[in-house]
Amino acid sequence: MSDQLRVFFAANLSPDARASAGEAVERLRGAAPANVRWVPAENQHLTLKFLGEIHEGHVDRLVERAGAKLAGVAPFEVSLAGFGAFPSARDARILWLGVGRGAGALAKLARKLDAAAKVAGAERERRPFAAHLTLGRLREPARIELERLAAPDPVAWTVAEVVLYESRLAPGGARYVPLAHLPLGAGEGDPNEFAPEN
Ligand code: 2AM
Repeated sequence: MSDQLRVFFAANLSPDARASAGEAVERLRGAAPANVRWVPAENQHLTLKFLGEIHEGHVDRLVERAGAKLAGVAPFEVSLAGFGAFPSARDARILWLGVGRGAGALAKLARKLDAAAKVAGAERERRPFAAHLTLGRLREPARIELERLAAPDPVAWTVAEVVLYESRLAPGGARYVPLAHLPLGAGEGDPNEFAPEN
């Protein structure tokens, strides 16, 4: 439907972190089966909240609500950690890099965005948030020997904004189009900062 947009919030990597993730993918290729769909470098991000389809007419209020919540959160440092797989390395479907520094702060952003997403009619997240950078997806689950792979260099960077992306699905793969950039720490603080996120 033309008035529906498939959207999600994400934090982006710094150029150094992207390079480090790229090297990690090259190491992972050697340990992974041939039929992995690798996420292209330009599509790599830390997803904070996937809303799915929302009404185009709800985007403005979503941006406003989310922006108000994020204005009260100061920018923070994150770093990439080692390899992991969902649901497990024995039965891997999603291959990812974990987050070292900043995992708790990302979870806090995810909670705020999950609460803000209500104004666009999005469903609440039921699963606990686990910060990760998806590198590849397997069509058939497989066992992957991740423990032998060296983790990427612990490159740290500052997350200073959250981006609202539209995900445009196409036969050649998804294209993520930024709809809004929401800065962290832009305001005096969200008056609801200390209210429960529900
Ligand atoms: P991921 O970071 O775990 O891969 C865009 O599709 C982003 O939204 C993906 O990066 C993906 O997260 C995330 N996402 C979360 N739930 C999703 C779902 N049900 N369908 C598609 N993408 C989802």
